[in-house]
Amino acid sequence: MTQPKNKVVIFLGPPGAGKGTQAERLAREQDLVKISTGDILRDHVERGTPLGQQVAPLLNAGKLVPDQILMALIRDRLADMEHVRVIFDGFPRTEAQAQELDMLLEELGAPVNAVPLLEVPTELLIERIVERGRQAAQSGGSVRSDDTEEVARHRQEVYREQTQPLIDYYSARGHLAHVDGVGTQDEVFARILASMTQRK
Ligand code: AP5
Repeated sequence: MTQPKNKVVIFLGPPGAGKGTQAERLAREQDLVKISTGDILRDHVERGTPLGQQVAPLLNAGKLVPDQILMALIRDRLADMEHVRVIFDGFPRTEAQAQELDMLLEELGAPVNAVPLLEVPTELLIERIVERGRQAAQSGGSVRSDDTEEVARHRQEVYREQTQPLIDYYSARGHLAHVDGVGTQDEVFARILASMTQRK
């Protein structure tokens, strides 16, 4: 089957909902580029770039990075794409980011196609995040500074205050699909695909 030239999917959901996990698989299966703003920012922190030094305290505390920094990163990522076939993971996170993204996508002639919202109860989100931190520490891997219980809880609050309004934003535009994010990764992936097919 031929793929549409442009395709834009936005994964919405609280920290720990499985956005990164599911976005990676969808990107692989549908030939899309995953743009994870958390990964991009953490890479800057690890490399000690000036941007990394600027944002590290915010990431450590589970606070959002200023909108203008995010928009510059996103513009940069989309700049050289012949076709805009992307999945955004962790972006947009504020209404200002969503509005600017809409303007940018309009310039590029690539409207939003789908916004799956992964829904998971808060206590399970905390459990998943703390478990990831514990496993990374146990295996001697790289532990995310924001994967402690205290910061994970704060990230949920920040999500409720600053990102949850995007549910209404995308719902009003007819893009939003509620997806149950509890179950195996395969089950959740099947639900995401079903929600996207139903919307066509
Ligand atoms: P970011 O990296 O985006 O983190 P997040 O949204 O807090 O999300 P997570 O990566 O924790 O969760 P996820 O939903 O991707 O789930 P995952 O697949 O990893 O952001 C980090 C920070 O960067 C922010 O706090 C902020 O400072 C900054 N930032 C980033 N973007 C920004 C923006 N746009 N504006 C401003 N600031 C920004 O899964 C979580 C765990 O659960 C994993 O261990 C996974 O294996 C497991 N899991 C996944 N699916 C399942 C399942 N079905 N069952 C059981 N376990 C599962």
